[in-house]
Amino acid sequence: MDNETLTITDNRTQKSYTVPIFRGTVRAMDLRQIKTSPDDFGLMTYDPAFMNTASCHSAITYLDGDKGILRYRGYPIEQLAEHCTFLEVAYLLLNGELPTQDELDAWNARVMRHTMIHENVKKFMDGFHHDAHPMGILLSTVAALSTFYPAARNVHDPKVRMSQIVRLIGKMPTLAAYAYRHRLGRPYVYPDPELCYPMNMLWKKTEPKYVANPVLSRALEVLFILHADHEQNCSTSVMRAVGSSDADPYATTAAAISALWGPLHGGANEEVLRMLDEIGSKDRIPAFIEHVKDGKHKLMGFGHRVYKNYDPRARIIKQVAEEVFEVTGRNPKIDIALELEKIALNDDYFVKRKLYPNVDFYSGIIYQAMGFSPDQFTVLFGIPRTVGWLAQWNELMSDPDKKIARPRQIYTGEEARDFVPRTLRDRELVGV
Ligand code: ACO
Repeated sequence: MDNETLTITDNRTQKSYTVPIFRGTVRAMDLRQIKTSPDDFGLMTYDPAFMNTASCHSAITYLDGDKGILRYRGYPIEQLAEHCTFLEVAYLLLNGELPTQDELDAWNARVMRHTMIHENVKKFMDGFHHDAHPMGILLSTVAALSTFYPAARNVHDPKVRMSQIVRLIGKMPTLAAYAYRHRLGRPYVYPDPELCYPMNMLWKKTEPKYVANPVLSRALEVLFILHADHEQNCSTSVMRAVGSSDADPYATTAAAISALWGPLHGGANEEVLRMLDEIGSKDRIPAFIEHVKDGKHKLMGFGHRVYKNYDPRARIIKQVAEEVFEVTGRNPKIDIALELEKIALNDDYFVKRKLYPNVDFYSGIIYQAMGFSPDQFTVLFGIPRTVGWLAQWNELMSDPDKKIARPRQIYTGEEARDFVPRTLRDRELVGV
């Protein structure tokens, strides 16, 4: 379209500039030409937390937060959650197409070949204190993997990249399970390649041959599918930022895991459980809501930077919860959560701010019913999200627009001044 441009008048100079618009976006660099004098640096944009800045082109995940739509490679999340296995979705995210049966068989076998970890990794994990948080163990261990696979540093070779991607996807559940079992003081359990994406390592006790409950393993698989990618969220942006320096995928994934751990991001699922414990019973919900409205608490598991409508993943998770409870018995926290949601969705404070339950509001309740402790919830989130991180990293590494991430700042410190020798520094003057 000829008129896909934006004309800007700089009222400081009365000059006009016309810049192209591409897919509803102007390039921030096109604003640099807007200057008040030849030695002026040029206009920048200021956007802390990237509220309105696209940092990349991506063909992986589509999200419309106003309409509550989430698609991987064009496929609605609801259809993938109903029909696919997790590894099938992983293949889709990484390769852009759903696999044929032969492709899927080969892919499953390839990933499962990589589920074992080097025995030295176990020794390394043994060094953690008995009550170390499993997320701390997971992120350090993933970072440590780069010392085992130095070839991974060759990030510009697509074949090397794909080898590391498969290796990491294979090892994540093993590392997650070891981190979890370390916390519980249970022996580490080797992966069983006959099971689908390894469930035995999490749940196995003393049975010689562990058989997973089909409802619980399918529920875990659906949760994994829902958590696999979510475009440019906090941890994915970290993955891309660290990856932009050509760091290897293990170091890069460890950075993304660190971002995921935060309670405003993936760590929210653990916080939701703590919040439900604190509320304790339905009759205490109104008082808790008042505290939230007074700014004393956040309603954890509510609100989202992008969704200003019901998170489609939360809708599916609510249904999964009911199926899991048929096997495990009802987690009484679900009733507090449902009531909390009902009250919040009818309260002006939440309605005006478009705050809806996000993916973390219900996931922890299911994980707890499955027998996991709250500090393991974010680890369970990290297993599938690794696929999304790696798909986004791989896309970045072959993007012709890739450059090292390096934002600008607006400097607010002192103007240039002369050095003062230590003996002449006046404390009162510098206000110390
Ligand atoms: N409880 C109470 N108030 C909230 C909540 C909440 N959970 N979330 C947002 N608000 C309020 C804010 O106080 C703000 O109110 P104001 O306009 O009066 O100042 C308004 O809603 C807008 O919120 P922001 O903080 O500007 O929204 P932002 O997009 O920056 O934050 C976030 C999104 C971090 C997810 C936020 O909603 C939050 O902290 N939620 C709780 C933590 C959580 O559940 N995180 C998981 C997100 S999903 C994921 O990462 C996997």
